Amino acid sequence: MRIALLPDIHANLPALEAVLADAEREGAEALYHLGDLVGYAPWPDEVVALLRQRGIAGVAGNYDSTVATDYAHCGCRYEDPRQEALSHESYAWTRAHVSAATKAHLAALPFRLDLVATGGHLAGPRVILVHGAPTLNTLYWTEDRSDDFCRKMAGHAGARAGDLIAVGHTHRPWHRVVDGVQFLNAGSVGRPKDGDWRACYALVELTTAGISARHARVEYDVGRATAAIRASDLPDDFALQLERGGA
Ligand SMILES: [Fe+2]
Repeated sequence: MRIALLPDIHANLPALEAVLADAEREGAEALYHLGDLVGYAPWPDEVVALLRQRGIAGVAGNYDSTVATDYAHCGCRYEDPRQEALSHESYAWTRAHVSAATKAHLAALPFRLDLVATGGHLAGPRVILVHGAPTLNTLYWTEDRSDDFCRKMAGHAGARAGDLIAVGHTHRPWHRVVDGVQFLNAGSVGRPKDGDWRACYALVELTTAGISARHARVEYDVGRATAAIRASDLPDDFALQLERGGA
């Protein structure tokens, strides 16, 4: 079974549309999102509506659970006062613009989803979906974390050799194996931060024999996204970040 994992869409409708088309071309039989559906771009309701229309389930990102619960801030990390101010502007804009239906959908997202080959009818590996880490959706699991950190997370998740734990949240794709457990950061569909502006998602092959995974990069109409950001009350910085694939 080929599964597409859609991380950190962040209200970027053109990026989501391009990734859905690409996943179809790739023959993905099932699609799941990894949370952070909203924030930073002007299509929160449209993104949630499209995912619902396509029946795409997924897990709660920090942005989803904070918007849904009217939390004080989005749970995002900032490296300087400017980033902090921008983060607050995005959060306030998003909270002011999401519909009640969108909020209800975000509130209902689960923390974690497990995918088991053949539904567990035969023994096989598991794909475990969370947004940040198995313990917390605000934890930034960067590529430079130690093997020990990965082992700890595998332990928290109850993952065994052969399983795969998929996350997003950092907006930077990576893939590694520790003690036979695969760890995959799927990147970000709508707000990549690795210097590549193209939408990023992951394709996972899940069989009773094992799991393989790879990233896919997709060109999309970034001009449509940046024009809509500049035409909105969102800070223009977010348009620049999309063009550059990062800060
Ligand atoms: Fe995110």
